[in-house]
Amino acid sequence: MSTGGSRVSAPSAPALLEIQDPVRDRLDRVPGEMWRIVQADAPVIAAANAHLRGMKGKMFRPTLLLLASELGESPDGRETALAAVAELVHLASVVHDDSVDHSNVRRGQPTINALFSHQIAVIMGDYLYSRAVAELVRLGDFAPLRAFTAASNEMTLGEMRQLAAYDALSFGEADYFSLIRAKTASLLGAACEVGALCGAPAHREAMRVYGMQLGMAFQVADDLLDYTEVEAVTGKPSGNDLREHKVTLPLIAALPVMSPAQRAAVNSLFANPNPANDEIAETVAIVTECGGLDYARRKGQEFADSAEAALAPVPSSAARDALAGALRYVLDRRS
Ligand code: IPE
Ligand code: IPE
Ligand code: MG
Ligand code: MG
Repeated sequence: MSTGGSRVSAPSAPALLEIQDPVRDRLDRVPGEMWRIVQADAPVIAAANAHLRGMKGKMFRPTLLLLASELGESPDGRETALAAVAELVHLASVVHDDSVDHSNVRRGQPTINALFSHQIAVIMGDYLYSRAVAELVRLGDFAPLRAFTAASNEMTLGEMRQLAAYDALSFGEADYFSLIRAKTASLLGAACEVGALCGAPAHREAMRVYGMQLGMAFQVADDLLDYTEVEAVTGKPSGNDLREHKVTLPLIAALPVMSPAQRAAVNSLFANPNPANDEIAETVAIVTECGGLDYARRKGQEFADSAEAALAPVPSSAARDALAGALRYVLDRRS
């Protein structure tokens, strides 16, 4: 009997490099633009810049912006600087986020708060963000300025809402979705919208919706990785959301089906200001057993499906294929 079955399986998720292939040349120019924009002589800022320069991220937001700019005739030349702005707004947000989350590792390297101090992380995040806005003003282009400043404002509100959730365990799914829309999806939506403005204005709204829905899937996947993956793979501490008493979708889905004993273990973690690693591991096991990880995976898939629907009016091209591939990549990624 033949072992080759006729079952058609879903295409496997592309690697990040494949998604970036159609825009590789311009993407490779983005770091140069970023470090031009934030160049500084002030010693501490120069030292922090040098450290950040050595921390390589996925460059996912610039990738999306550049791909969106390729969906029409040809990009108009603004897109590389705007892709650098998108990454700088993101970088400013993670420098602040690591200080807020007391996180010592990102991209496999010490965070600014770990290497320098929390004070320097606060000032550095402001510096990166204000340089990004100054670049938008220099470009003199109102629409990208409006899109990125609106997204930054949303991100701030999202991070503040997360911090201010004083009774974390009463946080529901609707609260969670509105929070991740603000803190994460808004910037991916803006990056895609601004990309379309640079070369495919007819697809501006479709790309904004695509980016928002993709951003929702992206944060759901990030929150799953905090439960499932180890630091050596993600480059960030695992279990940090529970350590910081952050309630994300896997736990929200698991809470209503927990036994009283399981619920008591979770309550005790949330009552402990410094949860031990074995307490975190116990809650991860409970959430897994109660179906929280499976539920979050299904929701991530639903957001990716909505993003795919937003791509429907976009004509076929290598950039469009890459944007469709980015949806599978986001759900499958391990870092
Ligand atoms: C991390 O973003 C912050 C989130 C919104 C989850 P990325 O996963 O894109 O981080 P880098 O830039 O690749 O390090
Ligand atoms: C995303 O949330 C933070 C930002 C949008 C800056 P997380 O706190 O989950 O991000 P990571 O896991 O630290 O990258
Ligand atoms: Mg964080
Ligand atoms: Mg996270």
